[in-house]
Amino acid sequence: MVERTRAQSSPRTAVVWEVLRAELARRDADGPLRIVDAGGGTGGFAVPLARSGHDVTVIDASPDALAALNRRAAEAGVADRVRAVQGDADRMLDVVAAGSADLVLCHSVLEHVDDPAAAASSMAGILRTGGCASVLVANRAATVLSRALGGHFGQATAALASPDGRWGPADTTRRRFDATSAEVLLARAGLAVEQIHGVRVVSDLVPGALLDSEPGALEALLALELAAAELPPYRDIATQLHLLARRT
Ligand SMILES: C[S@@+](CC[C@H](N)C(=O)[O-])C[C@H]1O[C@@H](n2cnc3c(N)ncnc32)[C@H](O)[C@@H]1O
Repeated sequence: MVERTRAQSSPRTAVVWEVLRAELARRDADGPLRIVDAGGGTGGFAVPLARSGHDVTVIDASPDALAALNRRAAEAGVADRVRAVQGDADRMLDVVAAGSADLVLCHSVLEHVDDPAAAASSMAGILRTGGCASVLVANRAATVLSRALGGHFGQATAALASPDGRWGPADTTRRRFDATSAEVLLARAGLAVEQIHGVRVVSDLVPGALLDSEPGALEALLALELAAAELPPYRDIATQLHLLARRT
């Protein structure tokens, strides 16, 4: 069972943790799982999963992120269950055996890799049959709305028209997705999407001061996020889309 920490109760990650918690509970009888976190960075997901008894390999391109991950894992007392590997999410079969992972996380990474199709196929390649991929991607519709709300109407129109959902040459995100494009990407790699949730449907639109000044507002916002996450059209305007997909 994954313990519920303060970070996991934040609107930024609560929906993803809810989906993961349900999947892990389903697999409780299987004992510790072999989890790979592709582009797992400093271990925001890897360390809590290791604290719950699972073995986690983080594959990340950044040595600095991996060094911070190792420190965080040591501080949490789970260094023996967290393996940090410098590598490329597009080529995970170079560092992890085929069919060896029960669960692969790929959160906020497909926006940045050179080849998202190769990364999806790499996820499928390291998963065992029946294993799951937890994939979090930036949602193009949220960028259109946020650029427009910031008064950048030309950029909002550009993001609407761009096949990659980019708002202009200065946009540092290489690509964004919608529910269909993300699902098709995973399906082509042999990953059957079972669930799609919106993450941060309204959280990024709410002034922070309102949450600080109104007692109980954060809890109420969290309840709203969880209730709206699966429901189109709310799901489809969320800042991020979370997909749970199974290796068939
Ligand atoms: C936005 S961070 C997300 C970190 C973590 N997954 C999370 O959700 O908190 C993106 C991470 O992906 C890593 N990254 C970017 N491109 C990568 C690639 N091609 N292969 C592996 N890691 C990559 C970066 O070093 C960074 O740690």
